Amino acid sequence: MSTQHQGRDAFASNLGAFAATVGSAVGLGNIWKFPYLTGSNGGAAFVLTYLLAVALVGVPVMAVEHVIGRRMRLDAVRAYGRVVPGQRFWSAIGWAGLLSALLIMAFYTDVAGWVFAYVLKSALALGPGRPLGPETFGALAGGTWEPIGWQVGVLALTATIIAAGVSKGIEKVTKTLMPLLFALLLVCDVRALTLPGAASGVAYLFRPDLGKISGTVLLSALGLAFFKLSLGMGTMTTYGSYLPEETRIVPNATRVALADTLVSLLAGLAIFPAVFAFGGKPAGGPGLLFNTIPLVFSRMPGGGLFTVLFFVLAAVATIGAMVSLVEVPVAWLVEKGHVARPAAAFLTAGAMLALGLLATLSQSPVLGDVRIFGKGFFDLFDFLSSNVLLPVGGVAIAVVGGWLVSRKEFLAELDKGYAAEPWYDRIVYAFIRYVTPGLILLILLNSLGVIRLA
Ligand code: PFF
Repeated sequence: MSTQHQGRDAFASNLGAFAATVGSAVGLGNIWKFPYLTGSNGGAAFVLTYLLAVALVGVPVMAVEHVIGRRMRLDAVRAYGRVVPGQRFWSAIGWAGLLSALLIMAFYTDVAGWVFAYVLKSALALGPGRPLGPETFGALAGGTWEPIGWQVGVLALTATIIAAGVSKGIEKVTKTLMPLLFALLLVCDVRALTLPGAASGVAYLFRPDLGKISGTVLLSALGLAFFKLSLGMGTMTTYGSYLPEETRIVPNATRVALADTLVSLLAGLAIFPAVFAFGGKPAGGPGLLFNTIPLVFSRMPGGGLFTVLFFVLAAVATIGAMVSLVEVPVAWLVEKGHVARPAAAFLTAGAMLALGLLATLSQSPVLGDVRIFGKGFFDLFDFLSSNVLLPVGGVAIAVVGGWLVSRKEFLAELDKGYAAEPWYDRIVYAFIRYVTPGLILLILLNSLGVIRLA
């Protein structure tokens, strides 16, 4: 069953809307990025900053995106181009979002390819002679044809799902498998937390040393909050355009943020106690997940099988997020450009592959030496999207929602689903106008060296 608005498809129920939104939010960001950024930014001080960024910036920006999306019921480019009468240039938010989707997918598909490769490698490791060790990851990520092959495969899979339409297949699959991922993370947590020496891993995650908060930590935590919750680039605006009329926007956004944060923390609790117990380095960078999980699981009975299962579920989690990333340009190509959905899907995937090859090869000898602003392509795409485009997009979105859309219209959309005005709507609105854009600006100016916070 699906709801139609002016002939457009939409999510059928509140629960469906919640599941799809969580499906976009949960992905490599939780299982791969959160742990490795925590490890390279000094642990609990980063976690604390990240939690504040989610609450003070993430939830309000998600609410604005859902309000604007549901009010306009259009793809992101046209939604922002039309939401303020006479000011079409706000469509730039949607355009920047399309660019962000391309940049993110360029490195996301590289890492997703590693995850899919690890499904196969961990399965092969069940037999004799092919153990999973640190050198396995080095050879994969630093290779040429192998990672490219996986990347092409991952993109083709995503495009095929999108071409077929999103709701039936992927929504159903993720809805069933997400709880399984959750359960498996809990198994990892129990294993990791009962290792001797696990306590220092827990302290590393939860006992902040405030002296470690620096400009880099603030910007990385903010960037991660945007990336994690799929904000600042029109993804949540697009999903907002599929929300049922009666969905209560603020409680829904809060629940999505809580669920997503819980998955990240559970991943951190599976990884850091094990890193400390085995004398590993928390600042292991992007390879942290791929080196640690097989190691932890290898210490328990049946561990090989759990490793396979873990990477299968991680692979599933990447699909929900990738589908939502590809959906942003596809929605625009289909609705505005009248391109057939399958053609739009493969066209978008092709463009993503072009950039993706640069990201993948920047870790191999082929493009390993190329530096732009001191970064290889992989890091550059990640930095530009998470730490520049998404936060800047977030400020623009908050300004449009808080200052340029009339207060009455904005609150009317925010309060749908309630018989009377909820107690919090004024508070949320004040955040959207002042606190959220103010905080983002402070962190951006700080990282440019214009002001000095930390
Ligand atoms: N939120 C996803 C993750 O954490 O893996 C990544 C992502 C999806 C970012 C969709 C941005 C986006 F629009």
